[in-house]
Amino acid sequence: MKHLLKLLDLSTEEIFSILDLADQLKYERKHGIAHPLLSGMTLGMIFQKSSTRTRVSFEAGMYQLGGHALFLSSRDLQIGRGEPVQDTARVLSRYLDGVMIRTYAQQEVEDFAKFGSIPVINGLTDFCHPCQVLADLMTIREKIGPLKGRKLCFIGDGNNMANSLIVGGLKTGMEVSIATPYGYRPNEAVLTFAKECGGQFFLESDPFLAASGADVVITDTWASMGQESEKEERLKAFKDYQINAQLMAAANSGAMVLHCLPAYRGQEITDSIFEAHAGEIFEEAENRLHAQKAVLVKLLKKEGK
Ligand code: CP
Ligand code: NVA
Repeated sequence: MKHLLKLLDLSTEEIFSILDLADQLKYERKHGIAHPLLSGMTLGMIFQKSSTRTRVSFEAGMYQLGGHALFLSSRDLQIGRGEPVQDTARVLSRYLDGVMIRTYAQQEVEDFAKFGSIPVINGLTDFCHPCQVLADLMTIREKIGPLKGRKLCFIGDGNNMANSLIVGGLKTGMEVSIATPYGYRPNEAVLTFAKECGGQFFLESDPFLAASGADVVITDTWASMGQESEKEERLKAFKDYQINAQLMAAANSGAMVLHCLPAYRGQEITDSIFEAHAGEIFEEAENRLHAQKAVLVKLLKKEGK
C-alpha cells in the first residue's frame, strides 16, 4: 500500500491490518506507552474545505508519533491561485514525507499521487472519505466484535460517506444496505463494485426496509460541503430519511448509531437518538486519531526504523 486514495484500492487484508494497528496504538496511548515511530517526519495537510476532526486528529497524531504536521490552507498556497497540482506535488514531495489532502475532486488526490513521490492520504473528497470509514469500522468492531455477517445500514445522501461505507463494509464481510432518495444514489463505480464483489448488498428507497435487522445504523449531513446552495431542495428530498425512534425500531434491538459529524439535529438525526448514542458517536470521533495514526505508520514508516 503506497497511498490511501480510496478504499477501493485496498485489499481486505490491508484494511484489517490498519484496524489491528489502530487498536494497538489506541491501547498504547491509553496506557501511556510512547510510540515515536515517525520521528523527524513531516506531514503536509492541504485543506480546500473546512475541518475540525480531520485537521486536529492528523496534527495531534503526527505529534504523538514523534513527527510534525503542517496545516496548508489552499487559500494561502499557490494552488489556490492556479498553480497546477502536478507542480505542487513535485515541489512538496521534496520537502515532506507525506501529504494529506481534503478537496473536491477525487482526480486531484489521484493526480497528486501520480505526479508526486510521497504517500498521499485522502482526507475527504466529494467521492469518498476513507479515513472516516476506517475509524467507523474500528468503532463497530470494538463495540460488537467481528464484522463478518453483521448488517451495516446507511440512510441518507449517497455521498462520500455512503460510497466509502459500501466499499469498507463489503470488503470486511459485512452485509450493507443503503437507503437514499432516487436522485441521490451512491456513485456508479461503487455500485458496480458492490454488485460484483460477491457480498450482500441492498440499495433501497425505503429507509425502513434498509434498517430492518441492522446492527449499525449510520447517517451523514443532507447537504455536504460544497452543496450549501442546494440546502432547501435537499431538506425536502430527504425529509423521510431521518434517523429517529421509529426508524431505530426497525433495526436490531441494541443497534449502534454512528455519525461522522458534524451533525444537524432535527434533520438527518433527532436530538434524542443522537444523545442516546453519543457514547458511540464520540468514540467514533476519537477513533479517527487512532485509525489515522495507523495509516500514517503503514505509509510513512521506513523499513528497519
Ligand atoms: N468527520 C469529519 O471528517 O469531520 P471534519 O469535517 O471536522 O474533519
Ligand atoms: N458528507 C460530508 C462529510 C463531512 C465530514 C461532507 O462532505 O461535507
